[in-house]
Amino acid sequence: MKIAVVGTGYVGLVTGTCFAETGNQVTCVDIDENKIEKMRAGEIPIYEPGLEDLFLRNSNEGRLQFTTNLAEGIEGAKVIFLALPTPPGEDGSADLKYILKVANDLGPLLKDYTVIIDKSTVPVGTSEKVHAAISKGAKVPFDVVSNPEFLREGVAVEDFMKPDRVVIGTKSERAKEVMNKLYAPLVRQGNPIIFMDERSAEMTKYAANAFLATKITFMNEIANLCELVGANVDDIRKGIGTDSRIGKRFLFAGIGYGGSCFPKDVQALAKTSLENDYKFQILDAVMNVNEQQKTKLIPAVQEFFGNNLKGKKIAMWGLAFKPYTDDIREAPALYNIDSLIEAGCEVHVYDPEAMKNVQSVVGNKVTYCKNPYECLQDADALLIMTEWPQFRTPDFDKMESLLKNKIIFDGRNLYELDQMKEMGYTYYSIGRERV
Ligand code: UDX
Repeated sequence: MKIAVVGTGYVGLVTGTCFAETGNQVTCVDIDENKIEKMRAGEIPIYEPGLEDLFLRNSNEGRLQFTTNLAEGIEGAKVIFLALPTPPGEDGSADLKYILKVANDLGPLLKDYTVIIDKSTVPVGTSEKVHAAISKGAKVPFDVVSNPEFLREGVAVEDFMKPDRVVIGTKSERAKEVMNKLYAPLVRQGNPIIFMDERSAEMTKYAANAFLATKITFMNEIANLCELVGANVDDIRKGIGTDSRIGKRFLFAGIGYGGSCFPKDVQALAKTSLENDYKFQILDAVMNVNEQQKTKLIPAVQEFFGNNLKGKKIAMWGLAFKPYTDDIREAPALYNIDSLIEAGCEVHVYDPEAMKNVQSVVGNKVTYCKNPYECLQDADALLIMTEWPQFRTPDFDKMESLLKNKIIFDGRNLYELDQMKEMGYTYYSIGRERV
């Protein structure tokens, strides 16, 4: 099938590359000439495990092409994916200007029946707006389908190629047929394609992200209470996660959720709710708790150093909002850097993938280190912000020889308490006893 993908951000690029991998002819369209030029030269703009191989193979074999010209990009396409940004506007609601601009441009360009697919996370009712915008200029029949994407950064290719489910919002039988054909290679293992109306599909995406953000936040509050009553959140996680009604995943307490989806989508859903005269109270609590959770360790750092952090050298391990990505959007590390610098600290940071992105935001306010140990030289304390696997089993002897004080503030619960006690560390983690 010939496919066009408009917008080559995270979702667009993964969608385009993976559909090329399943044998389709894909053209990716973006207004960023520099980005398109680079992709034509074989340079992939994001870090995502496994994606580069697919990107290069499909580009080399001619199934994946790039253009800045919308008319050229959609020529002959049976389906057109819209994978455009929906950034939060000033009031927290998702801004649709990019999507509606493309929808307006698309109308007059369509030459034959086409399925236009909203892949971005968009507020309920958007597919109707997109439909209306295309209708203004269209002379041929078309359908607008809502097909939210559930992939996680870091495991995007796997999530895309083997989705738990595919959600498709359309009432059109003609569009259903096209979508079934397109997704057939991805659901061969029996995972379902769930058809519903457009509004329900749009709502499904927000409900999924808001539910997961709530699940994490619930555990973060349990963790906060565990610290006060002397219980251990790791044990609670095992204790409740084994109940199949609750499930094991997304129960890890820490310094809050970040990334490009959860914060934005929870906020947008709360806004949609208010616009419909309903106060979604749980979401307000989730946002408030998460805001506090991000810098939860700072008061402990303050207290440990007698409320005087002036001139203290703090080592920070991990900057990305989670491992296996270079994405720092809403990353807790950034909030911690700000608080530490404001308190007068010198911050030395290391992250395997995200340092370039941090440098473009934070500049030279922090020192960037070549490896995790370089940060530790004469550091007064170590703060852990992201659970990269390499931080889980470090060379503790080497750490001890470099650190000025044997103290770790761990926002991701990487180490066992017994192990820390034995090695004589002062160790603060989340929802567990301080040792
Ligand atoms: C998320 C959704 O999972 C995905 O379905 C959607 O399409 C986009 O948003 P992503 O943002 O890539 O994906 O990351 P995810 O792995 O879901 O983690 C989100 C945040 O939650 C991270 O900050 C992570 O550290 C945090 N988290 C996750 C926890 O704090 N505890 C957990 O148990 C799990």
